[in-house]
Amino acid sequence: MEKKYTWHKIAESLEAMPFAESNIIEETIAGRKICVVLHNDEITACSQTCPHAGGKLSAGNVDAAGNIVCPLHRYKFNLKNGRNVSGEGYYLKTFPVEIRPAGVFVGFEENNFFNWLK
Ligand code: FES
Repeated sequence: MEKKYTWHKIAESLEAMPFAESNIIEETIAGRKICVVLHNDEITACSQTCPHAGGKLSAGNVDAAGNIVCPLHRYKFNLKNGRNVSGEGYYLKTFPVEIRPAGVFVGFEENNFFNWLK
């Protein structure tokens, strides 16, 4: 089953994003708060809210292995697949990011409910 995405432009280019100040940027897309993360020249995106108890992940940090670390209880999540790599059994929503000639885009999955039925 192929996933379909609605793509939202968040910047004109990677260079135009304020990663000099922090490697985790908070963005609001269609009313939803997300984190966009630059780590080792790779860009990823995830929900802003920690699935454990609502910690604000943009106030966390990224460890050497590229996991986002929640500032509240230090649980760690893989930014590519959302896995809770510190082992508490949670799952963090992640989003695809594409750098295109027209800018930097984040994809939100379409039609979650109907995709489940297929
Ligand atoms: S709220 Fe994030 S680890 Fe507890």
